[in-house]
Amino acid sequence: MSFIELKNVCKKYAGAEKNSVTDFNLSIEEGEFIAFVGPSGCGKSTTLRMIAGFEEITGGDFYIDGKRMNTVLPRDRGISMVFQNYALYPHMTVEKNISYGLKNMKVPADEIKKKVDWAIDILGLSEYRYRKPKNLSGGQRQRVALGRAIVKDQKLFLMDEPLSNLDAKLRVSMRSEISKLHRELGSTTIYVTHDQVEAMTMADRIVIMKDGVIQQVGKPMELYEHPANKFVAGFIGSPQMNFYNVNVKGDTVTFENGNSIKLPDSVISKLAGRQGEMILGIRGEDIKLDPQNLDLYKNNKMSATVDSIEVMGNENNLYFSFGGTATVARVSKYEISQAGDEIEFVFIPSRIHFFDKQTEESLFNRRTLCRKFI
Ligand SMILES: Nc1ncnc2c1ncn2[C@@H]1O[C@H](COP(=O)(O)OP(=O)(O)OP(=O)(O)O)[C@@H](O)[C@H]1O
Ligand SMILES: [Mg+2]
Repeated sequence: MSFIELKNVCKKYAGAEKNSVTDFNLSIEEGEFIAFVGPSGCGKSTTLRMIAGFEEITGGDFYIDGKRMNTVLPRDRGISMVFQNYALYPHMTVEKNISYGLKNMKVPADEIKKKVDWAIDILGLSEYRYRKPKNLSGGQRQRVALGRAIVKDQKLFLMDEPLSNLDAKLRVSMRSEISKLHRELGSTTIYVTHDQVEAMTMADRIVIMKDGVIQQVGKPMELYEHPANKFVAGFIGSPQMNFYNVNVKGDTVTFENGNSIKLPDSVISKLAGRQGEMILGIRGEDIKLDPQNLDLYKNNKMSATVDSIEVMGNENNLYFSFGGTATVARVSKYEISQAGDEIEFVFIPSRIHFFDKQTEESLFNRRTLCRKFI
């Protein structure tokens, strides 16, 4: 049995018509950093709160270190948590807020001081040590909430969108602080976020949820390269993957605008004989406009008119309409285009994904593909 085990865990809130979380199955090894990611309302916080013991588990079983935890009180689960809407004690200084939990746990005073000094230092709160929460910015308050949790030294560390109140720059630096902290402390961590970039950059493994149901669990690049369905493909990666309704016949893929391309055997064979209507997916960086790729795939060249361009500095996003889909291609900063320009482009065949039109499941054999990444 793994360190953390969730088996068919369900949550139905009293009076609710349907489950907020359904058959959540997950094993977590000791020391892993797991991110729960998904759109607002998909059940991330509910799952985390069931793990913490603040929300009753209405179905299934939850174990920590082999011990069934369903009915164990939150304080006896060996967990520390940073909430989405954390509340600091308004009458206490930063230092007192951080040390309060340790005092309750009857930790000796010299040890409390050492831990609080360490947390204040690591979180960059030295100059605010004696301030009260009302005199701190949102980001500073969030760091105090983090400090309060990290000093507790528990077996399992739960964080629910701990960086949501921070500005973009601070978010990035706190992201690497938390990753560093995790490496130092080695504590098993579950981190909830709706920001896929945060999940991709921080987690050992990501759990993607939608409507209370896990869509896929995997390492960041496994999810990026081998999404199990269209939802995962669209959720992970920015800008979003481009999707087209296509018809596949033999080795020929025809788009709604009548354009067609031919795919090599290596790609077609992954469809295992599937033909007809399906959804083609391709990421913006796999749409190429450079002379080398245009030459390499010259039989599959397509053209469109650029609608708009987003200059990012290191690269550009080109927006154009193709095959009934608003398309975005990520091109290097050397491939300058302007709105109104006619462009030629190709899709890298080996980077194409196919999804079932009805179920939206990936049509490639994911199980075989994913195995080598595990
Ligand atoms: N106390 C409650 N009573 C009834 N329904 C609830 C309760 N708390 C949450 N829900 C519902 O359960 C579902 C999951 O909510 P949850 O807070 O877990 O989502 P989330 O993934 O954390 O979203 P967000 O990213 O917005 O924080 C939602 O549909 C929500 O409305
Ligand atoms: Mg939430």
